[in-house]
Amino acid sequence: MNQEIPYSGLFKDFTPEPVKLPLPKLNGHLPPPVEEEAAAPMHADEPAAPAELVPADQFTVEELTDAYNETRLDYMVPMPMNAARLQEYINLYQIDLSNSLVVIDEGKKVGLGMLGVRPGRSWITRLGLVASTRGKGIGSLLMNGLVGNSENLGLEQTILEVIKGNEPAHKMFKKFGFEEQRELLILRRAPAEVPKPTSEVTWLELDECLHLLKSRQGMIAWTNQTESLEHAKGVTGFKVTTQDGKTGWLVFQRTLFNLSRLMFDTQDKSAATMRELLYHLHSHYPTVDTYTENVPADDPHLQAMLDVGYLETFSRIEMHRPYKV
Ligand SMILES: CC(C)(COP(=O)(O)OP(=O)(O)OC[C@H]1O[C@@H](n2cnc3c(N)ncnc32)[C@H](O)[C@@H]1OP(=O)(O)O)[C@@H](O)C(=O)NCCC(=O)NCCS
Repeated sequence: MNQEIPYSGLFKDFTPEPVKLPLPKLNGHLPPPVEEEAAAPMHADEPAAPAELVPADQFTVEELTDAYNETRLDYMVPMPMNAARLQEYINLYQIDLSNSLVVIDEGKKVGLGMLGVRPGRSWITRLGLVASTRGKGIGSLLMNGLVGNSENLGLEQTILEVIKGNEPAHKMFKKFGFEEQRELLILRRAPAEVPKPTSEVTWLELDECLHLLKSRQGMIAWTNQTESLEHAKGVTGFKVTTQDGKTGWLVFQRTLFNLSRLMFDTQDKSAATMRELLYHLHSHYPTVDTYTENVPADDPHLQAMLDVGYLETFSRIEMHRPYKV
């Protein structure tokens, strides 16, 4: 479903601009354990200790959830989480908590940045600071930590997505050598009737679904990579053959409340074959909402989705940062 974007030109030298705050030593030299409410400076004129980074595996998932929610109180797209959801997120997206970081400033957790790690690549996610601490170089400190951890792991590339219009984060990522790749859409669809499909359908076993996911070519958003669905519950899918012999497949997650994580491809990369897939999907599940994220804005199947009632809720810019290896 994703379009290949050539990697040539990405692997250039990059030296991030210096950060404004001293960096902690993270490799084997963890900062001392953090007290929940560390003492304030003894004297008003005594300079406050610099913010420091602590590996996220030093905290419980509940603590990380609280920290995350605090940083997102004023976020452009509200995305609060509870601990169970964050734990699921950690499992599905292979978040490496020992390389993810919590920012401690004046004894308090004021920020968080998570690092997903898969062979050869990492993914920065859930990154943010509480509003009162922004604009003082702490985001740069955190980015340096996450990029440094990726580099220490010997990875080739770090990936992230930023919501379109989030200028502070977008500018910061560019400053750290991330280059824009493409726009990804987050789509929703309310239940609505679809035309009767005219193609033949074959439902697939999970191993067949995973096999098709692995067969995809080109760039695939982290949330949609095969590893993200391998451990997800309720993954199923089907293949269709149209009357003129074209084939296509659709793999998705069925939860109690909705359909999500739609992954698909068609032999002829056409909206017509994709419409057949969607007619089957929505006539099979006529009463549930659908939510799917990170569909490339230039995906040739997008028009079929819009035709059957999918609406864009917001979009993200995918950015990559190569490393010299
Ligand atoms: C994005 C965020 C982490 C940046 O942290 P920060 O501590 O404010 O950033 P810094 O002070 O280190 O600034 C780093 C760079 O970010 C950019 N930046 C930061 N604030 C900015 C602003 N208000 N407007 C434009 N650019 C800004 C600048 O390029 C800046 O570099 P410069 O100071 O040399 O110009 C912070 O704004 C935040 O938590 N935002 C809410 C959550 C969020 O958007 N997360 C990203 C999700 S993808």
